[in-house]
Amino acid sequence: MTLTRREALKLSAAAAAALVAEALLRSKTGFLASAWAGPARASTMPTASRYSNTDNTLQGKESSMHQVATTSGLLSEAYVDGKYVLPKLPYDLSWLEPQYDARTLELHHDKHHAAYVAGLNAALGKLDAARKANDFATIQAVSRDLAFHGSGHVLHCLLWDSMCKGGSKPTANLEKAMKESFGSADACFAQFAAATKAVEASGWGILGFEPVSKKLMIFTCEKHQNLTIWGVAPLLVCDVWEHAYYLQYQNRRPDWVDAFMKIANWEFAGQRLAEVSGM
Ligand SMILES: [Fe+2]
Repeated sequence: MTLTRREALKLSAAAAAALVAEALLRSKTGFLASAWAGPARASTMPTASRYSNTDNTLQGKESSMHQVATTSGLLSEAYVDGKYVLPKLPYDLSWLEPQYDARTLELHHDKHHAAYVAGLNAALGKLDAARKANDFATIQAVSRDLAFHGSGHVLHCLLWDSMCKGGSKPTANLEKAMKESFGSADACFAQFAAATKAVEASGWGILGFEPVSKKLMIFTCEKHQNLTIWGVAPLLVCDVWEHAYYLQYQNRRPDWVDAFMKIANWEFAGQRLAEVSGM
């Protein structure tokens, strides 16, 4: 599948959202490398080090905290031995008081986040059974469950790492990225707060790294199940918006998908896999 820049702009909304969610990834393969004509710049990706023993905001609490050994926070502990798991909170339940009380945090983590983990593993079990039986009658519902619970798990892992006692200031690289993307760190803070307050009903405020322009962006996510699993790196996509196939296939989407499967560029997907995972 060779995409022109024009075609790249027509990627489905879900795939585009997933691209934006590649907050820790930079792309150098295929159209992504040339889809934004801005000047090449050094990466501005932040590197986390919050839970090291030298973190001033956490001194004196190390003995009671769950230490995180890697630079990717709780997400590094969100999947163990072939199962998604509920990571321990990186602080005591009362550590964020008075802004976030212990009982609320306990319920949020132990009940709500745990339910996402259970639902995610259950969805994967259903998908495994469906593949073995070659019976995909429930694929729409199970795919929705996968995205709903998967996004819930990823976003809650990020949420626990997104809070600390008394707050903290942006690292130098993040502040530089904020200035380039929003004008200033304060402008970023103001936009983030305003956008998050404006979420209708349930949802999230999300600061992310958009890897094509290499800019920070702020999103509100009202139905995280509509946006794949946040953080997933797309390897290969098939556009089933009607604009992609209607002229040739009219309302026969299955015919378009079958045709797509005959022209799918898995070699490109393999290149992407190597790029984003090192596999
Ligand atoms: Fe939540």
